[in-house]
Amino acid sequence: MERMPKPIYVLNGPNLNLLGTRQPEIYGTTTLDELASRCEAKAKALGYAVVFRQTNHEGELVDWVQEANREGCALILNAAAYTHTSIALYDVLVTLGVPVIEVHLSNPHARDVFRRHSYVSLAAKGVIMGLGAAGYDLSLEAVAGLLKQ
Ligand code: DQA
Repeated sequence: MERMPKPIYVLNGPNLNLLGTRQPEIYGTTTLDELASRCEAKAKALGYAVVFRQTNHEGELVDWVQEANREGCALILNAAAYTHTSIALYDVLVTLGVPVIEVHLSNPHARDVFRRHSYVSLAAKGVIMGLGAAGYDLSLEAVAGLLKQ
């Protein structure tokens, strides 16, 4: 019997629990639950399981990133506002042995100046932004491609 690969972790940061109602003109109308189902379906089609989570707490996100490195095969991270502020996140991301893809629903570069700097980008293999929920599908495809190499 073929062994199931370790899951792909898809971690989401603060305020993404509000997806669907939070500034839909920027973030779209897809809810977090819908995004989770979409990721599960996409990952399944690629032969992977996902661990999909969201937190509003920086320390919890750091704990989960550590867990992704131990228990997962890759990390897709939308750190939301912590992208632009968190050295703690940067410090853990540079320790990872698994590939990291940074994803954003919106294009932070086309918005406020303070969104143009990302601590996550410094440690990410690739970045996908501005494509809404489809960016998560593309991130999963990118991970599957990287893991095949
Ligand atoms: C975001 C972009 C961030 O600048 C913002 O703080 C978010 C969401 C995005 O997915 O577009 O909360 O990460």
